Amino acid sequence: MNAGIIGMGKYIPEKALSNSEIEQFLDTSDEWIRSRTGIGNRYIAENEETSDLAYKAAQQAIQNAGITADEVGLIIVATVTQDQNFPSVACQIQERLGISGCGAMDISAACSGFIYGTAIAKQFIESNSYEYILVVGVEKLSKITDWKDRNTAVLFGDGASAAVIGKVSEGRGILAYELGADGTGGKHLYLNPENHISMNGREVFKFAVRQMGESAVNVLEKAGLTKGDVDYLVPHQANIRIMEAARERLGLPEEKMSKTIQKYGNTSAASIGISIVDDLAEGKIKDDDIVVLVGFGGGLTWGALALKWGK
Ligand code: UT7
Repeated sequence: MNAGIIGMGKYIPEKALSNSEIEQFLDTSDEWIRSRTGIGNRYIAENEETSDLAYKAAQQAIQNAGITADEVGLIIVATVTQDQNFPSVACQIQERLGISGCGAMDISAACSGFIYGTAIAKQFIESNSYEYILVVGVEKLSKITDWKDRNTAVLFGDGASAAVIGKVSEGRGILAYELGADGTGGKHLYLNPENHISMNGREVFKFAVRQMGESAVNVLEKAGLTKGDVDYLVPHQANIRIMEAARERLGLPEEKMSKTIQKYGNTSAASIGISIVDDLAEGKIKDDDIVVLVGFGGGLTWGALALKWGK
């Protein structure tokens, strides 16, 4: 029996920050941001920490999965913006969920974190180590954003998503995964000594366009599927032009790709999960659909999952 996603949740902080508001303190324009990135708005956590966002998404995922928190055997939190280096966000939310005792750890794979976390969870579920695993992708990027740098400040947003991974019925679930990294590209996207995101946008763009398409194709091959089998693509919401390149590589029509970047910006490890929650609510992902998740991020890292949706 495969492991699969049996419940999802998300949390978006209240304060919206539109492109026109950013225009007021940075030399940029709504037109530039929309046409170059697809972003129209993002949300900023003002009085909440990363663990607060993570906890709220986790609660919703547990409820949506129809389990109780004490049935969770392992918590994996993917983030690069933890409240502090330790304790981990996973331990912090474990305390708030009132489930002391289960395993809990943070992982660092930047925007690919949700895919890395889910692929790790798959191993533990399919080896019968745990019945349910909570995977959270969460970022409070606003606290490491250099609000004077127009190359990066317009891109990012805060948010959280969570998934409960468990066994699903025959034929459904995570069919294949691909994880990868190229440490030689670490210099293109990193946290600088001033604790701000530093990015060579053009290099990351080139890498992302190539890698997203490549990974999506690889994971399909691993699953024994072809492009024609794909019902829906959920790419990391980094830049609409990068996402479109992945969609075209799979030969999919526009309506078969998730697009939430205009609302939330790039929420890094949270973006794929947030998109899935919205797509499920809008009926864009249905049971038995073949869904491909693909992401890339700092590291440089990448990852993809092929799933047959449903419990
Ligand atoms: O989760 C992973 C995170 N990172 C990414 O996904 C980033 C990947 N890269 C990108 O998305 C794109 O490279 C950016 C959106 C960051 C930049 O778009 P671009 O089309 O690659 O622009 P560019 O860096 O080549 O810059 C073009 C021009 C430059 O002006 P000049 O030198 O041509 O006069 C920039 O200074 O656009 C200028 N520019 C801006 N103008 C207005 C850069 N940022 C802005 C801005 N507003 N915010």
